[in-house]
Amino acid sequence: MKRRSLLAGTVGVAALATGAAVLWRPEDKGAPHDAYFSKLNALLKRDGPGRPVMLIDTERMNHNIDVLTNSVGPDKTYRVVVKSLPSVPLLQHVMQRAKTDALMVFHQPFLNAIAETFPRADTLIGKPLPVSAVRTFYKKLGNTPFNAENQVQWLVDTPERLLQYQTLARELGIKMRINLELDLGLHRGGFEIAAFDTALKIMQEDSTHLQFSGFMGYEPHLTGLKASLDQPSVQKVLNIYRGFQDKARSAGISVDQLTLNGAGSHTLRIYERDNTMNDLSAGSGVVMPTDFDTYHLSENRPALFIATPILKRYDDLIIPGDPWFTDLLPKWNPNMQRLYYIYGGYWKARMVSPPGVPAPLYQSTNQSPITTSKRVDLQVDDYMFLRPTQSEHVMLQFGDLLPVKDGEISERWPVFQQT
Ligand SMILES: Cc1ncc(COP(=O)(O)O)c(C=O)c1O
Repeated sequence: MKRRSLLAGTVGVAALATGAAVLWRPEDKGAPHDAYFSKLNALLKRDGPGRPVMLIDTERMNHNIDVLTNSVGPDKTYRVVVKSLPSVPLLQHVMQRAKTDALMVFHQPFLNAIAETFPRADTLIGKPLPVSAVRTFYKKLGNTPFNAENQVQWLVDTPERLLQYQTLARELGIKMRINLELDLGLHRGGFEIAAFDTALKIMQEDSTHLQFSGFMGYEPHLTGLKASLDQPSVQKVLNIYRGFQDKARSAGISVDQLTLNGAGSHTLRIYERDNTMNDLSAGSGVVMPTDFDTYHLSENRPALFIATPILKRYDDLIIPGDPWFTDLLPKWNPNMQRLYYIYGGYWKARMVSPPGVPAPLYQSTNQSPITTSKRVDLQVDDYMFLRPTQSEHVMLQFGDLLPVKDGEISERWPVFQQT
């Protein structure tokens, strides 16, 4: 009796599971490359190097630069975030089109490269660097017209770090401009109002070596909120910012002369009608990795793609070791009817064409399996296209970037060296 009810129970659960699987049966979302990706595919088969590459659609990128620049408006500075666009020719392009020399830099080797190649750049460091990195910067700074005293603002998050920088400035006999990182609610470090007086006093008492140059307040926690200017979360951020400005003003500082930096691609648009900050940052919104498909960037267009050749094709699904469910999977999910192997993989990226590709069976940085519907009929040596989820690290993984302009790969844009 007991065994019979157990059996009935098991059959019941199995039937339910099958029923649920049938109910949840994924739709066939496969399709050939559309006209846009077919053209890129043909271009790469003709001119590509036969390995994974990083493409930039320059027409879409120009559109994105214009959208961001218009949002910043004529009265504020648009500061280009270097880590999100880590290539000298790419930065050159963005700076020229946006008519700005302002850069936000996060990495000492990039800062040295910028000092060499952009003698007019106005740089603000985007995170507080260890004092040894600052020392390395000065040591490596060659004979260049770039004047570090006027053209770098070092970001400082605590009075302790300020004292370290002061010691270095005295030792090297230099003057450093100091921008203070504010905690506007992100809670990723930075000054709270109580510590500001201490920092200001240190700087005012040693004007030979230190000069207070402004504030930097980053607030990406507003991203998910579809935030608009009048919302309490945004007003809270701005009130903290204004609190620091008021304190600076009452210490006799002319606040309008300061660099009052804030925002990032996700949030920059919130401040179109607000003047609390006079200097707004954005990088990723120029090329639009998938993490940036957010509310305020809905006008921006994807401009950055990984393209990788297909190495192998199978017309049925096969799985390493031939497990028993191999034949069931494509019956359940029509997007698993065909199997390809692409060159490389396991990037921080999502397949964008062909469409409808489910999560891979397993990930490999060497050759990755990609399953598709039978509606996808690509051949060995055709390319598949992915969108990176972020730009900053992924853009450094493919060698030179390949800008596509008027349907051609016209140049090669080297990326920054990490060291
Ligand atoms: C201090 C700071 N400002 C701005 C940004 C915005 O960069 P992006 O526009 O690429 O998101 C970042 C990104 O991490 C940041 O750390």
